[in-house]
Amino acid sequence: GAPVEVNISKLADGQMIRVEWRGKPVWIVRRSKAVLDQLTTHNDQLRDPISAEPQQPAYAQNPYRSLKPEIFLAVGICTHLGCSPTYLPNSFNEQVNGVAAGFFCPCHGSTFDMAGRVFAGVPAPLNLVIPPHQFLDDNTILIG
Ligand code: FES
Repeated sequence: GAPVEVNISKLADGQMIRVEWRGKPVWIVRRSKAVLDQLTTHNDQLRDPISAEPQQPAYAQNPYRSLKPEIFLAVGICTHLGCSPTYLPNSFNEQVNGVAAGFFCPCHGSTFDMAGRVFAGVPAPLNLVIPPHQFLDDNTILIG
């Protein structure tokens, strides 16, 4: 499939843009400072907090799993059986104690934090996949 170019100039804190790349949904989320700060608070609740599993580009092997901390990209497909998780920017703590935002898979209840890292004790075995991408300029991302 062809690379996909996305303009993120209108993406506000907490918002998500959904695009299609190679037939898959790709999410782009702008994470607020509060969300970024929270990514360091719950490593002990995660199955693979440092993303040791090789499902992401080398440049995303950091706590944010991203090129720029505030801009998060992930393939929006649950690593269990392929459903598309729901983005819960405000009400996630009803599902996962102490974490305010994240992604919830309605099929079998897997939960992922705002870096797409899977919580321990749910069916999904791996963190969400980070697609290959680069910034062409501050507001333009090329996926693929
Ligand atoms: Fe997401 Fe099973 S497909 S939890």
